[in-house]
Amino acid sequence: MIIKTGIDIVNINRIARVYDYYGDKFLNKVYTEEEIEYCLSKKHMQVNSFAKRFAGKEAFVKAIGEGFKNIAFHDIEILNDSKGAPFVQLEQPLYDYLQNKYKIETLKISISLSDDTDYAVASVVILGFK
Ligand SMILES: CC(C)(COP(=O)(O)OP(=O)(O)OC[C@H]1O[C@@H](n2cnc3c(N)ncnc32)[C@H](O)[C@@H]1OP(=O)(O)O)[C@@H](O)C(=O)NCCC(=O)NCCS
Repeated sequence: MIIKTGIDIVNINRIARVYDYYGDKFLNKVYTEEEIEYCLSKKHMQVNSFAKRFAGKEAFVKAIGEGFKNIAFHDIEILNDSKGAPFVQLEQPLYDYLQNKYKIETLKISISLSDDTDYAVASVVILGFK
């Protein structure tokens, strides 16, 4: 079994500034359609949800130790279950790549997100089973 962990913290104002400047171009580069729909469905603090997902994607690539060199933001999708808990869905090519990289059959990913006035944070744990 392999265990990988990643953590990231994002200044929410930084995301707000990038969003103000680049608008939809930024959203479409970083987030999937479903992620955008979820964040925009929030009545308040939409930018916080975008920032949490940004932190989540960065925490994920940290966990696998590669940064965004071989991985696109869209390959990592952060959605929410019916209770609001976030979960990670990987694009199949990334899932296959990780299976091959770690020589594992099954990959389980756990993510937790949080935010306060200025910062959004994310923690990711990846478990791989042979
Ligand atoms: C989980 C919970 C404690 C979060 O409290 P909070 O201090 O407002 O949360 P934070 O601001 O630190 O973080 C918010 C993030 O928590 C995560 N979260 C929400 N519900 C969650 C849950 N049930 N389990 C795990 N994580 C959860 C989400 O990722 C959310 O951000 P997102 O909506 O942008 O994805 C709170 O939402 C809760 O008690 N939920 C239980 C389910 C519930 O009772 N829901 C009420 C529906 S009316």
